[in-house]
This record gives sequence, structure tokens and C-alpha cells, in this order.
Amino acid sequence: MKGWIVYYVASRGYLLTPAAERYLEVMDEALLTGDKLDEFVERIPGAESIVDIEDLRKAISPQGEVNIATSLKNNKGEIEEARNIGELPAPPLIKGDISGNSLCSGEIDDFMKYIRDRYERLSAILKKSVSSSVSIEAAKRRTSSVSIIGMVRETKTTKNGHIIVDVEDMSDHIPVLIKKDSDMISENFLLDEVIAFSGSTSMKGDMFYADSFTRPEAVKKPALMEIESENEVAIISDIHVGSNTFLPDAWKRFVKWLGSKDAENVKYLLIAGDLVDGIGIYPNQEKELEITDIYEQYAHLAELIGEIPSDIRIIMQPGNHDAVRPAEPQPMLPEKIRKLFSEDVVFTGNPVYVNLEGRLFLSYHGRSMDDILSSVRGLSYETPLLAMEEMLKRRLLAPSYGQKTPLAPESTDYMLIDPVPDVLVTGHVHSYGVAEFNGITIINSSTWQSQTEYQKMHNFHPQPARVAVYHLGTGKVREKNFLEA
Ligand SMILES: [Fe+2]
Repeated sequence: MKGWIVYYVASRGYLLTPAAERYLEVMDEALLTGDKLDEFVERIPGAESIVDIEDLRKAISPQGEVNIATSLKNNKGEIEEARNIGELPAPPLIKGDISGNSLCSGEIDDFMKYIRDRYERLSAILKKSVSSSVSIEAAKRRTSSVSIIGMVRETKTTKNGHIIVDVEDMSDHIPVLIKKDSDMISENFLLDEVIAFSGSTSMKGDMFYADSFTRPEAVKKPALMEIESENEVAIISDIHVGSNTFLPDAWKRFVKWLGSKDAENVKYLLIAGDLVDGIGIYPNQEKELEITDIYEQYAHLAELIGEIPSDIRIIMQPGNHDAVRPAEPQPMLPEKIRKLFSEDVVFTGNPVYVNLEGRLFLSYHGRSMDDILSSVRGLSYETPLLAMEEMLKRRLLAPSYGQKTPLAPESTDYMLIDPVPDVLVTGHVHSYGVAEFNGITIINSSTWQSQTEYQKMHNFHPQPARVAVYHLGTGKVREKNFLEA
């Protein structure tokens, strides 16, 4: 439904473009006090003519705080003509999306339900490969060989170099000893992962001696099969509109490419979060912002997205810089922001399962990589694909509670990887990489932001403007790089 400000402006003889209408509805709060509305309407240039977002923007803020939009403009007509525009694919099937389903109120009871759900679902998966496991309580009363399934609640290294992993189930908990001369000594056991240990209990029942362990590892079975489709999916993330390190020229080249012959089979664009840079995300962020109003950031994003050929289905989820709750799983962007975009854009939560013509994508922005990369030996921000493998080994997008990744204790664990996807997509680290793990394609998508001050400080070199293009038929991935002209 259109807001009355749109009607008011229209009644004064202006013809608003659809994008300008959407912009006005979102920006209405700025116009609702005193005589502001009339003053605003007087300032709209070109009375009784067609009014676009730029005209409204000038009228709202006559000094023109930012004007990056004009430098970004591609000619959509030309792009679509070159592409030979076809039909827009139907909206994809979406699963595992928290949007509209959040039940958590922050009570202790929520936390118990969340932990129990994780434990029960992962132990059910483990029981398929670990025969005859018993409860920890029962294992304490037996000294013969046995298997237990527990959630890791603490790990420590003894002064002799052994590792003790304390695990618990619904019945009890027990310290599991991993000897320093064991093959398992180099393993990283992460807090709150669920794992099976085989071995035996000490005579006193106060220690479990592990001989081996099993994880609920995600494996794609049967391995990737070809399906009948020539369509492709372009996969990107971390656009960071609003930041002064956003790369408009690279973006412009990307959109132009979408109109080219080379991209004529690209029918989907999947965007894995950090759509805008946001406000107040880290200390002194304002010094690195070109657009300091969150709605303006999304309005600019909507313009950029609006230039993409109209037969490409766009699917967008939030990341930790976006204007939704930071606790994961995150719901889709609020309606006030969604209104800025065409109705054809599909908004989802984070993480989410997206089924594109029978190929199952699990798309997660990837905040938990901050935790995984610092908890697993040998990993760093240069190796995000290895962090994704760690997620798949444990079937958990975010293994540990109470670290940098804020997790909302929903009654179902949305961070649990079930079912096994064909493709796992993450962003967040501003790197780029594609690999295969256990028959699953893993893609860490790139960014549209050059090196930030924070990254400079940490000597991290991002890999911006690289796009993974996934072929739905063959499951193969090709790369396009838009950094250089
Ligand atoms: Fe980001």
C-alpha cells in the first residue's frame, strides 16, 4: 500500500518513478515534522515532470551530502538489450529460514531446548555410523569397550601433554583422555560440538580412555550428479554500500557483464550478506563511511540492484553489518528496507537453504569464521575454505556458543547442517575461494570493498570483485574477476 506522502507529492503534479515511490515511503519520517513536507515538495526540481530518486534526494538534502549514485549509473536499457532479456525464473524454494519463526525469549529454558535439539539431532546422525553407543551414565558402570556420544563442554591440555575433553549427554558428563602419543592428539575439539568416542572407562568410572572418535561429518551421497539445466548462479557477498572503500567501478563492470553474452545463462544472483556497511558496527566506523544514514545506504543498494537485468532472480540475506538483529540465525531485512527494492527480490534470513532448480545451496554469511579461524590450529583469514570444512565435519555452521558469534537460543538449532547441501556458500572474510569437500562444493565469495583500515592494521589483503559462477547443470564453477578494467 502506498503511503500518503506519495499521494501528496503526486497530487502536486509530480509523476514518481516506481523506485522514487519506494524511496519516498522509506524516507517519510524525515518529512513528517512541521512545514518540512511543503518545503520539500517546493524543492523538487522540474514541476509536473517525472521525478526519480536523485531529484528526491536533492530535495530532502539540498546540500547533497553524497552523490555516488550518478557515478554508478549503468544504462539498464542498453544492458538489457545486449542480454536479450528472457523470463524471470520463479522464486526458489526456501528452507531453514528463521524469518517470522523466532521463538526465543532469552529465558534459560530456551537455552536448554536449543542445546537438547543440537545434541539429539547430531547424536541421531552419529548413531548411524557408531554402533551400540550407550549413555555416559551407563558407560561409567562398564569397563569393557564402549562408545559414547557427548557434547564438548571443556577441553584442556595436561602438563604431560595429554588432552582432556570433557563431554556430556542428557545423563551425565565424563572427562575423555586423549594420550599425547595418540593419532588424535593433533585434533581440535571445539566447544559445543557433538562427537562420538569409542574406548573404555576407568575402573573408578571417572575417566574415559578414547581409542577413536567419529564426527557427524557431512558427505554428499550420491556424489554430484548432472541435472538438466544450462542456467548459472552468480554468487557474491559483502557489497558494503556506504563505505568509502566500496568499489563502484568494479561493481559497474560486474553489472555490465551481466548484460553480456558471456552471462546470458546467469539466471540467479545469490548475495550472502553484508549488503551495506551499516552504522556503528565497529569503533570509529563513521570515519570510513561515505553514507552515514542506514536507509540511504539501502536506498543506494536498491539502485545498484535495480540496474541488474530484470530476468535475473536475486536472493539476498543479511550479514553482521546489516540492519537486523546480530544474533544468529538472523531474520530477513525489515519491511521498511525491503520496500526499497523491486518485489522480485527474494529476501531470506541468515543462514538459509535455497533450492535452485533441484540444487540445494546452504548460504551463510560466515560470522562464525572469526571463531573457527582462531580456535583451529593452522587456520587463518587466508584459509576460509578450511574453516568451511571444519563446519562440514561437525555439521555446524557455528559450533561454539558464547564466543564472538552471537547465537540466539532458538528451540531448533538453525546453525546445524541438515540436510547436506550440494553447495555451501559463505562470505564475511573478504577472500575468495572454491573447493570441493566430501562431494560438496564450497564457495567463499568475495567482496566489493577494497582494503579497510582495520584490515590494513591486521595486514589482511582482501580479494575483491571476484565472482563465482555456478553452473546448475554440471555443478562446475567458473570465476570472473572485475577488479581491473
Ligand atoms: Fe563483510
